[in-house]
Formats: sequence, structure tokens, C-alpha cells
Amino acid sequence: MANVTIIGAQWGDEGKGKVVDWLASRADIVVRFQGGHNAGHTLVVGNQTYKLSLLPSGLVRGKLGIIGNGVVIDPSALLLEIERMRDQGLHITPETLRIADNAPLILPVHAAIDRAREAARGERRIGTTGRGIGPAYEDKVARRAIRVCDLAEPETLDWRLDELLLHHNTLLAGLGAETFEKQTLRNDLIALAPQILPFAEPVWERLAEARKSGARILFEGAQAVMLDVDHGTYPYVTSSNTVAGQAAAGAGLGPDAVGRVLGIAKAYCTRVGSGPFPTELSDATGRLLGERGHEFGTVTGRARRCGWFDAALVRQAVKVGGIQGLALTKLDVLDQMQELKIGIGYRIDGAEYRHLPPGAAAQAKAEPIYETIEGWSGSTRGARSYAELPAQAIKYIRRIEELVECPVTLLSTSPERDDTILMTDPFAD
Ligand code: IMP
Repeated sequence: MANVTIIGAQWGDEGKGKVVDWLASRADIVVRFQGGHNAGHTLVVGNQTYKLSLLPSGLVRGKLGIIGNGVVIDPSALLLEIERMRDQGLHITPETLRIADNAPLILPVHAAIDRAREAARGERRIGTTGRGIGPAYEDKVARRAIRVCDLAEPETLDWRLDELLLHHNTLLAGLGAETFEKQTLRNDLIALAPQILPFAEPVWERLAEARKSGARILFEGAQAVMLDVDHGTYPYVTSSNTVAGQAAAGAGLGPDAVGRVLGIAKAYCTRVGSGPFPTELSDATGRLLGERGHEFGTVTGRARRCGWFDAALVRQAVKVGGIQGLALTKLDVLDQMQELKIGIGYRIDGAEYRHLPPGAAAQAKAEPIYETIEGWSGSTRGARSYAELPAQAIKYIRRIEELVECPVTLLSTSPERDDTILMTDPFAD
């Protein structure tokens, strides 16, 4: 049996939670490999709704959850999320959750820097989640991060905090924000250590064993390809690699472990935060998509920007993300719309492009080139087979497959877990 990696193919919020949950029920282990508690996955299971940020979704299905080294972990946020789950009747213990001992930590100073820098950017702010994700990744690459394993070494914490605060307090003072006391941070970390360390281990070792024994591993991506720090709409991106290639490095496995790569895309397109969005609709149709699709962020509650499906963008995500099959979600939001548009390229300063060029100014100017396609009057909601879909809805899916150069292998037709049409089983060899 193959492993499966799931990534977002647009700007996040594609409905990964439901698909991950559905596939997690067939996996043995679910691994997070990048991002942090900026992610938001909503899972509807019976009459319970779980909102997860940092925890791997498989935990809801009683599967082993692993947080890999590629994730940035806010220890307080992790413990709060575990507590929130406990209140919903889900007990997360070191038997069900393991976290990489070499994963970097997000500290309160990172969130403070994130917010102070966003405020200083003014008009040009990125629209981050304000959770310290970017500054924590910067510290990792700058080799001054405090990692999970450091919680077991108070003497290491000491000098690492000195180095980290020398950098950040200088910056905070320059931005006119409050600085941090080493002793307070140190005491807080020492107090958190006994709650976090029981979950910590070299997860690469467990994963290597799991692979040897033929266990099925599901790698759960967060954010999406167009928010990837290399391949996304830079600088309006998150600070990690969100492409499937990251699943191996962010978990401590070789590239052959990634398995089949499933990309998730909405049948239209949304984005939260700032940055280019060529097919964005700021008219009544955009508002209709937002209302029907309940487009509000899981983490921040912000209203999402809405627009037409951008096939040029998803085609690019398919190529750079390594996507082999597409899961299309929320098709029902397009029900009863007379006419639909699909973005097939861009016009920038009179020239035509098949993909979004990387320059920020070019991206801001990109006008979509549309193809118009007839809508359907029937309903796709809750459909569990292609036979139940209106013919025109099938045409829409087929056109998307052609344009993005990737088959649609899974279709989700409502938030309910079983309202899913599976064309190809991603776990099959
Ligand atoms: P950061 O990850 O908090 O630094 O935010 C950087 C950008 O990524 C912002 O535009 C956020 O809105 C966006 N972002 C981060 N996480 C998610 C997510 O889970 N879904 C959608 N957008 C996200």
C-alpha cells in the first residue's frame, strides 16, 4: 500500500480537513510536516465539530498523530488545543501523539514580532495570522531557535535565550514595541517542559519502523502551494514549503516515503490575507460564493476573499506541488449559477501568460483571461456517484481536468464525511 500526501492547491482553506479525516480513517499514522497553529482544519464527525490547528487530524479517528520537525510548535497553543479536545471528549496522550524532539518552538516573542512588523508594514502588510509563524521559521534558519529537545536542558535554554533575545529585543525596541525579559521566558519554558516532553521523541525512528512494517502513513499538509515560501505569491505567503516534497524533509524520511500526492482545490477559489488574487470577485457573485460557501477563516474568523476557479494557478500548483490527483471540494456552492467562469491565464501590460510570473508588481497587475462555461440548474449537494451529478457539472469537472492537466480523483459534495465520490483510491498501489 502506498502512503498518501495531501496538500492544498490554491491559497488554503480548500476543505482539506474533511478529506484528511476521510483518508485518515484508512491510514495508520497521520503526520503534520510544516506550518504551525496558523492552520485551521474543521472536521465534522457526527454531531461534533472539531477545529484543529496544530494537531494532526487523524487523532479524531483514534489514529497515531505525529508532529514532524518541519512544524513550528507553540507549546502553549499545543497544550490549549489538547485541553480543548479533552473538553470535547477526545483524550490526547503520549500514546496517541508524538512530536519531533528537533522541532523548533514558537515563543511569545515571535508573535509579538509578527504583529509589530505587520503594523509597521501598513498598507503592505501580508495579513499574517499573527501567530509568530514567520519569525519562528526565521529563527530556525538563522540557527537561533529553541527546539523541543532544549526544554530538557535548562543550561542550553540559558544561552539560547540570550542569543535569541539579543536579536528580537533590539528589533522590538526599534519598532517601539515592548521587549521581553529573559527570566520570565525561561521560567515559562521550564514550567511547560514537563507537559511537553512526554510527547517528544525522534519521530524519524518511529516513522522508519512504521514504513518497514508496512503501515500506511498520511502526510497532512497545511496552507497550500500558492502560500509556499518559494513557489507562492511571494512575499504574500507563509514561511514554510507547503509542496509535497516537504513531507519527507519535514518528517525525517526519504523522498520515496511521500507516496501518492493528492491536491485539494475548491471548485471556485478563496484567499484570506493580502496579496494578488487575479480571479477575485468583489461583486454580488463574489458575495454569493462567500455566503453559500460559509467563507470565514477557521483560525482568525476573517471573511475570505472569493473568486472564480483559476485553472492557470492550479495547473502551476499541480506541477510544482507534485500533485497526481485532485480532490475537488464545494462543487455544490456553484449549483444553480447560470454561468461560470474559469481563469485560464493572465494578461499583464498587454502580454499574455499561461502562468503567474513571480514579480510582485506583475502579479498585482495580472488580469485574468476567462473561459465561460454554462452552469447547471440541478443540485450536486450530497451526491455520492457521478450518475447523480447534472451533466453540465460533469462537463465543468472535465474541463478543469484538461486545463490543470491532472485528473479529479475525488469529489466532495457536502461537509458530511460520506458525501464523497471517489474515483481512484489514493492508498491503492
Ligand atoms: P502566516 O502563516 O501567519 O505567516 O501568514 C502568512 C499568509 O498565509 C497570510 O496571508 C495568511 O492569511 C495565510 N495563511 C496562513 N495559514 C493559513 C491557512 O491555514 N489557510 C489560509 N491561509 C493561511
